[in-house]
Amino acid sequence: MSSSTTARSDELIFFVNGRKIIEKNADPERMLLSYLRKRLHLTGTKYGCGTGGCGACTVMISTYEPFSKKIQHCSANACLIPICCLYGAAVTTVEGIGSVKSRIHPVQERIAKCHGSQCGFCTPGMVMSIYALLRNHPEPTMEQISEALAGNLCRCTGYRPIIDACKTFCKDLDCCKIRENENCCLDLKENLLLSEKGKEICTKLFATDEFQPWDSTQELIFPPKLLLMAKEQRKRTLVFYGERTTWISPVSLKELLELKAKYPKAPLVVGNTSVGPEIKCKGVFHPVIISPIRVLELNFLNFTSNGLTLGAACSLSLVKDILTSTVSEIPEEKTKVFRALLQQLKTLGGQQIRNIASLGGNIIKQHTTSDLNPILAVSNSLLNLASLAGGTRQISLNEHFSSGFGKAILKPEEILVSLSIPYSKTGEFVAAFRQAQRRENALSIVNAGMRLILDPGTDIIMDFGIFYGNVASTTVCAKKSCQALIGRCWNEQMLEEACKLLLEEVSIPGSAPGGKVEYKRTLIVSFFFKFYLEVLQGLKLMYPHRYCDTIEKRKSIPDVFHNKIPQSSQIYQAVDPEQLSQDPVGRPLMHLAGIKHATGEAIYCDDIRAVEEELFLAIVTSSRPHAKIISIDLSDALKLPGVIDVITVQDIPGTNEFCCINEPESVFANHKVICVGQIICAVVADTDVHAKRAAVKVKITYEALEPVILTIEEAIKNNSFYDPERKLEQGNVDEAFETVDQILEGEIHIGGQEHFYMETQSVLVVPKGEDKEMDVYVSSQHPTFTQELVASVLNVPSSRIMCHVKRVGGGFGGKVTKPAILAAVTAVAANKTGRVVRCILDRGDDMLITGGRHPFLGKYRVGFMNDGRIMALDVRYYSNGGCTADESIVIMETALLRMDNAYMIPNLRCWGKVCKTNLPSNTAFRGFGFPQSALVTESWITDVAIKTGLSPEKIREINMYKKGNQTHYKQDLDPNNLVKCWNECMEKSSYYIRKTAVDKFNKQNYWKKKGIAIIPLKYSIGFEAMFLNQAAALVHIYMDGSVLVTHGGVELGQGIHTKIMQVASRELKIPTSFIHICETSTVTVPNTRPTAASIGTDINGMAVKNACQTLLKRLQPIMDKNPEGTWKDWVTGAFRQSISLSATGFFRGYDTNMNWDKGEGRPFEYFVYGAACSEVEIDCLTGDHKNIRTDIIMDVGCSLNPAVDIGQIEGAFVQGLGLYTMEELKYSPEGVLYTRGPDQYKIPAVCDIPEQFSVSLLSSSQNPNAIYSSKAVGEPALFLGCSVFFAIKDAVAAARQERGITGTFTFHSPSTAERIRMACVDQFTKMIPWDEPESYVPWAVPVDQSLLSQQIPQEQERFQYAMDPQTDLKRVLSAATPPNTLIIFPEGQERSSLKQEQVCQTLLTLWAGVCDMGPAHGLDE
Ligand SMILES: Cc1cc2nc3c(=O)[nH]c(=O)nc-3n(C[C@H](O)[C@H](O)[C@H](O)COP(=O)(O)OP(=O)(O)OC[C@H]3O[C@@H](n4cnc5c(N)ncnc54)[C@H](O)[C@@H]3O)c2cc1C
Ligand code: FES
Ligand code: FES
Repeated sequence: MSSSTTARSDELIFFVNGRKIIEKNADPERMLLSYLRKRLHLTGTKYGCGTGGCGACTVMISTYEPFSKKIQHCSANACLIPICCLYGAAVTTVEGIGSVKSRIHPVQERIAKCHGSQCGFCTPGMVMSIYALLRNHPEPTMEQISEALAGNLCRCTGYRPIIDACKTFCKDLDCCKIRENENCCLDLKENLLLSEKGKEICTKLFATDEFQPWDSTQELIFPPKLLLMAKEQRKRTLVFYGERTTWISPVSLKELLELKAKYPKAPLVVGNTSVGPEIKCKGVFHPVIISPIRVLELNFLNFTSNGLTLGAACSLSLVKDILTSTVSEIPEEKTKVFRALLQQLKTLGGQQIRNIASLGGNIIKQHTTSDLNPILAVSNSLLNLASLAGGTRQISLNEHFSSGFGKAILKPEEILVSLSIPYSKTGEFVAAFRQAQRRENALSIVNAGMRLILDPGTDIIMDFGIFYGNVASTTVCAKKSCQALIGRCWNEQMLEEACKLLLEEVSIPGSAPGGKVEYKRTLIVSFFFKFYLEVLQGLKLMYPHRYCDTIEKRKSIPDVFHNKIPQSSQIYQAVDPEQLSQDPVGRPLMHLAGIKHATGEAIYCDDIRAVEEELFLAIVTSSRPHAKIISIDLSDALKLPGVIDVITVQDIPGTNEFCCINEPESVFANHKVICVGQIICAVVADTDVHAKRAAVKVKITYEALEPVILTIEEAIKNNSFYDPERKLEQGNVDEAFETVDQILEGEIHIGGQEHFYMETQSVLVVPKGEDKEMDVYVSSQHPTFTQELVASVLNVPSSRIMCHVKRVGGGFGGKVTKPAILAAVTAVAANKTGRVVRCILDRGDDMLITGGRHPFLGKYRVGFMNDGRIMALDVRYYSNGGCTADESIVIMETALLRMDNAYMIPNLRCWGKVCKTNLPSNTAFRGFGFPQSALVTESWITDVAIKTGLSPEKIREINMYKKGNQTHYKQDLDPNNLVKCWNECMEKSSYYIRKTAVDKFNKQNYWKKKGIAIIPLKYSIGFEAMFLNQAAALVHIYMDGSVLVTHGGVELGQGIHTKIMQVASRELKIPTSFIHICETSTVTVPNTRPTAASIGTDINGMAVKNACQTLLKRLQPIMDKNPEGTWKDWVTGAFRQSISLSATGFFRGYDTNMNWDKGEGRPFEYFVYGAACSEVEIDCLTGDHKNIRTDIIMDVGCSLNPAVDIGQIEGAFVQGLGLYTMEELKYSPEGVLYTRGPDQYKIPAVCDIPEQFSVSLLSSSQNPNAIYSSKAVGEPALFLGCSVFFAIKDAVAAARQERGITGTFTFHSPSTAERIRMACVDQFTKMIPWDEPESYVPWAVPVDQSLLSQQIPQEQERFQYAMDPQTDLKRVLSAATPPNTLIIFPEGQERSSLKQEQVCQTLLTLWAGVCDMGPAHGLDE
């Protein structure tokens, strides 16, 4: 069936924002997001990923539920909702709840006024998630807020202000309820206020009394017409025919079965959360789709005497709600399966996904990854199936998964009608486990369901089941292992045997997709060990006398970390009481576009309305890392409907080559490709859908070229580098190494990072039809570079290209050079076709093509004295630059210049080389090399601490810059504020008290550990070349007194326009309401420098100040003559006297310089200082970690706008936390980036924010070098995210020490759950099989040259030596050891019966000795 049939589509009737929509040609392939944006021009709903992972497209869907006879409101991802499933639904978008033109909604107002938006691209999605929450829970709890926001990502704010906005709707504000050693969060602010008394300290960034009240009764009602339709209209099958696909929506089970029999290959689409991403990302095509959402027989729930039966189309949210109320109503012993399911459901996807994803879909489609299947299988849940020919049948998931791999659950014509979940029985133990890259909204790496029945009154295993997910192509049953254990006692011997059996039965090959093989193997046994302890704990409750010691040990079992809504404080200095009330400088003004962000009225590039005959461009990229292009066959692509042309290098009228700095690059690949993702050609078509369909039809034949270099290691081997190599040196390093007490060597790898700006790269090119003029609307941090590149490919003067940037939905460095290349391609297409052309990259293409932060390798040699003074340092940095130079050399230069961080090392040598590889070219990213080079620094500082036996903070203090010191490139600096930040951070974080508490905690807990770290920061500001620091502005005063300010800085979300307006307001002495900033354009301000390096406000502020002063000077005589006049009077007076009311302003730039030959200079204008202290807890068995608390002190001079500055600090910190602890890019051995969306690449979400998060701006700080004594703030705090990394390392070190492994250890960044777990070496990591590196092709290659898989086995060996001589030692240290343990020593065969504590202590001492002494010394008494 298809559109070619003569049958007519049904009308699709639904409502959007109270307006009835009748769509006569509903296309089943059309998603709500594109319908809203393109058809209804409701562009408030944003595209962030298209696969349900980011929440930018969140809307509220309201439906009348025939089963409950209630109206339901739920948040949902518009990118995954086919419009055809909206029949009878009411959609509410951000535009529907409030608007600047009418009335803004309290949610919109509060998000904006609480400073919850920066770039604003995620904001409409956030608003809609909160709005939907309030529709269901007008006074939500903190837990509900946390759940509601779990599916929304924000790359700018760090979430804190968004959470603060949500909290204003809570009835009772919960507090952190932490009163262990110190105050709870509610005391925090008060105490700070007290301690700072007299210093005019502020802790409020917004005033709640300004907020409109929230009245839940005033909201849009469900359209009565839809209610009538739902209640009265006889339901009938609906059919929608699209261009290629037919959608059939039956209303009865009978009809559904008939359809399934007729179209056995057609998917049953309920939530489309599985089918949708497959269509989008894997190109799967379905000519027919059957939608069972209106079939009542699949939408029901029923309690029976055996358990609960749920219709297969029930949403996961509904299932969660039902289970939640059931577990609170019926006895616990009956609900163990329900509880285990609930535990998984809480973190499965985000709220939006759970609201639409169906239970049936999860079971049937997610057979590998489902978090529910292992529990459903182990609990003997039954699937009730039906088909037209076969009638009904029931299968047990247990039997299904036990019977072998890969078998489909259903026959092709069969459907799942419902699922029956049994009640648990008395004495039954059931548990669920999962570990993911991120705690929420992330598919698990491994999950498991376990169930045990013991012979009543004994610990003998009667019935036992274990199922694992994500370890093979389907859920796996450990059947043989469980059977072998039946009849065994639940004790230590069983544990060891069980682990061996499990590892044998559930074997994962070295090359398994998804990688992390050793980690997955470890999780298999670690999860089992957790279950083992949980059962012992249960037995202890049942038989307290028999298991008397387990309570103590239980303390140590790591619980699942639950997310708490963070408590936070923000502290800054108030403005001088003498300051005029109209003067906004220094006050926490809301982001200029904050309200528009929240109402969805802020216009981004892709929100610009399409014009008639506009074309869409889709890029065709290389699928090979290094190859000759033999041929490009366009014939199939050109045949497709809607395709206009394919643009190739031959269509360029100007030049294909360009230079970012000095190495030539090309816009289109010509003859040869040098990475996967390089642009080869581009299709232009009438719609984005047609262009993308055609792009995949372009056939390119290649001839492979050698070598293919992907990793730093391979680049070193092949001597493949970009020139020049850079080096800085001070003192006499070689001589110093001769005189030091100790020398250590080490290395650390730092993985790359994806910018993940929420707005993907976007450009719209409008040929103006005369003089070869073109308007280029682009999401760019560097409009001038875009202008120049477009002019050069078109061979026209730059004066013909007008580049406009209204705002950018996040840049972080990723939109400095890359947008120009896309703009050039798009401009060539516009030039060739003479039509407007739009190019909006898909998230996957964006991640593939545009590169990110450079992975780094740092190798160091450090010489130091036993008292902690570091005397000599030799460090080599290698970065993976990718296939073109881009800005890599400058990034490496900055990395070297900033590598000292806060320390003065008298004899220092550092080298930097950029590797030329066949990866997409890496580029600028917030921090510009510093976050990598300084992490290496903090790493060797930590190593020196371990070697000297001093604390890391002592080593930091001893070596910190002192008054009179110079940097390693001979620039003077005054470290006064560095020391102040450090001391204040120590004090505010109660560092020493908490460190003692951490040590105490660690002594009491074996399987969970805490760690704490405090890190100082010195960040240098300015470009080393003076001309890069210049800026210009143009200010017009109109006759009505209104002022238009334009300057060279781009609004990226960092609040530059807000701060610039504050500057203009102060200079012109007029209220901000008189001032407007419209866009950044090459028309108004030419030759702009990139808005980067944190100095946007510094330099453009100076230029605006200059222009305003010129104007004020001109107005002054008129003002003097009429001092009582108004601003408008003076302006009119000036006009009448023919005084120009327009002025340009200019700032020449900082007087910076750097001589690389001499290694000396003054490359920076000034320094920003700071410090952060973070505390974490890790789960040694899974590698999970929880961020407990972070305190940051930052010196931002006299803040121009404390709300904006604190927002930048928090946002940067959280981005740094992502870099150092969770974000991982994965490449295949063929150089293909796997991680191309939020489903695979995890940036921090709400669950990752420290539970206590405080930011203080250093008071009384002055900075004569920048405008109004302020300091740059955008980048520095990103590095402070590494305080979390080092806190984790501290916790890992505590675990290792307890296991007898002392000394320095290599710990690469990011400190993912995998790395944490594998570094906490224990009997389980030792037990797993390790593959010989040469024996398999790994799924992913370590482009930062990670040696994880080679490093761990050495440690295992060492550990094995300490452990092996006595198996019973394991028992002593495992968490469930009987009170009196028999110790059998290997050599003397002596026996002694000691108290467990004594044994532990003795053995630990001996153990430490063994480890230090080496294998010649065995253990003896
Ligand atoms: C961002 C995101 C995060 C996620 N996170 C997790 C997670 O953490 N853990 C996890 O387990 N899952 C996760 N998922 C997967 C999600 O749970 C499943 O995609 C979802 O449950 C599938 O349900 P659906 O209704 O959307 O399926 P659809 O996409 O509508 O259909 C799925 C498939 O199942 C078949 N099917 C559906 N119902 C029936 C039926 N009644 N009879 C026969 N066949 C049927 C269809 O034929 C179709 O092929 C995530 C998904 C996304 C998009
Ligand atoms: S765009 Fe829909 S979730 Fe990202
Ligand atoms: S404000 Fe959230 S992504 Fe920019």
